[in-house]
Amino acid sequence: MSTLELKGVSKRYRVRGSGTMLALDDVDVTITSGRTLALVGQSGSGKSTIAKIITQLERATSGEVLLDGAPIPRRGAALRRYRQQVRMVFQDPFASLNPYHSIRHHLERPLRLDKVVPRAQIEAEVVRLLDLVRLDPGATIDRRPHELSGGQRQRVAIARAIASRPSLLVADEPVSMLDVSIRLGVLNLLADLQRSQNLGVLYITHDLATARHFSDEIMVLNHGRVVEQGPSDDVILNPQHEYTRALLAASPDPDKHFEGAAR
Ligand SMILES: Nc1ncnc2c1ncn2[C@@H]1O[C@H](COP(=O)(O)OP(=O)(O)OP(=O)(O)O)[C@@H](O)[C@H]1O
Ligand SMILES: [Mg+2]
Repeated sequence: MSTLELKGVSKRYRVRGSGTMLALDDVDVTITSGRTLALVGQSGSGKSTIAKIITQLERATSGEVLLDGAPIPRRGAALRRYRQQVRMVFQDPFASLNPYHSIRHHLERPLRLDKVVPRAQIEAEVVRLLDLVRLDPGATIDRRPHELSGGQRQRVAIARAIASRPSLLVADEPVSMLDVSIRLGVLNLLADLQRSQNLGVLYITHDLATARHFSDEIMVLNHGRVVEQGPSDDVILNPQHEYTRALLAASPDPDKHFEGAAR
């Protein structure tokens, strides 16, 4: 059981020629094992900045980031443990995998670095991970990323993200670059893994329909501020904030259901 908290986090970026811009303004976020929180808001609202602060690609200008009550360690074994616990799935499955390395290499790396299984079991663990993300191990393991489709690559990226058995996963628009026809399959996979591994997931998306369907709670961000947060159905069916209503009005089919949708 793990909990990641952002408390009063602000982020100010330096902008060349025009000083600074406030991308996050006093934001609180809590992600906890077994729960999915969707983060929605229009382009530029600060969603990826939250993901980057959690995964340490950026540092908060002020505020705290706490994993189980402790600040993110700056170095050493504690920092490695943090990185093992909190993993990221990126938007672009074409850019996030190394074109020169096989799928086997991509999955072996975290297994070795985090000593997830004994050396002799690494190959079997790679096969198990590919099975988990519903890729045919025999047809995938010795291929390189460019020999796979976008959806297959994103499954590899997901397998890599869970290889070290993290407790929390940050998925920043994980299907927005995939063909519409395969998006639901990948989101269903993420949802299944979330349940079976008891992951806490931060699901960043522009899509209110999938935010509702795949998340316990929705948080709405506007210009770096949280304007609304609550159980997913409440936020979609009974939005309290004008900005949320505007987002819903602009959304193609916000209360669409996915029951029985193809896997
Ligand atoms: N490295 C950076 N330097 C300066 N400004 C930045 C930087 N990264 C992001 N910003 C600015 O911070 C704001 C928030 O950006 P962010 O990428 O977090 O938005 P987002 O909600 O993820 O948008 P999108 O939906 O388009 O991905 C934007 O105005 C963006 O231009
Ligand atoms: Mg973004």
